[in-house]
Amino acid sequence: MTIVSPWEASGMKENNAAYIGRVESFLSEVVEDKPRHALFLNMLAMLEHLGSRKIMVSQMNRVMTQETLQHLAEEARHAYFFKRNAERVAGHALDGWDDDNTMCRIPAAMYFGRLDAGITKVVGEDAAYGWVSLIIELRACWLYEMYQGVLEQSSDIMSLKSLLAEEDRHLAEMFEMCGGDYDTLKKLSALETELFVKLWGRLEQELPQQIAA
Ligand SMILES: [Fe+2]
Ligand SMILES: [Fe+2]
Repeated sequence: MTIVSPWEASGMKENNAAYIGRVESFLSEVVEDKPRHALFLNMLAMLEHLGSRKIMVSQMNRVMTQETLQHLAEEARHAYFFKRNAERVAGHALDGWDDDNTMCRIPAAMYFGRLDAGITKVVGEDAAYGWVSLIIELRACWLYEMYQGVLEQSSDIMSLKSLLAEEDRHLAEMFEMCGGDYDTLKKLSALETELFVKLWGRLEQELPQQIAA
């Protein structure tokens, strides 16, 4: 059997190549804008929290394994990591997630909800945990790798290296769990890309608008 990576199998990188410039320029701008960076970090905290909660809820009627508990704990820690950094950048507490302390709170929650519903519709409730996680891990690795590159060039001290290593491992685990149905993987990754681009468009509107020359 030839070894195929989740990147090859999903076509995710090719399908997202056109968005690299936009995403990188947003990230470069937002990391140097402390008030907005705090709101963006709190949004990432919310998404990680939604991810860990989703894992917990999806396992309620199933046998909990050590591997799943570890996954859940790591996503919860990612939420804590981003919340802690959001508060560091803000210089004060950012309790919970509301419209004042979270960038694009509703569009981000909609991204997650629609993705979860769209994937569950295709693969069914039982397989949803693996597939939703797999598709989200692709995005997390793609985005956080770029974010890490931007952070290294910035004045911010945050590093995503250990978080990225965990997302990488989750990606490999979920890819194995979901098996070799690459047609479904391509289809679901394309669905996620559509939702991600929509969310990103909303995030871009949160930056100060540049006046065209
Ligand atoms: Fe995560
Ligand atoms: Fe993860």
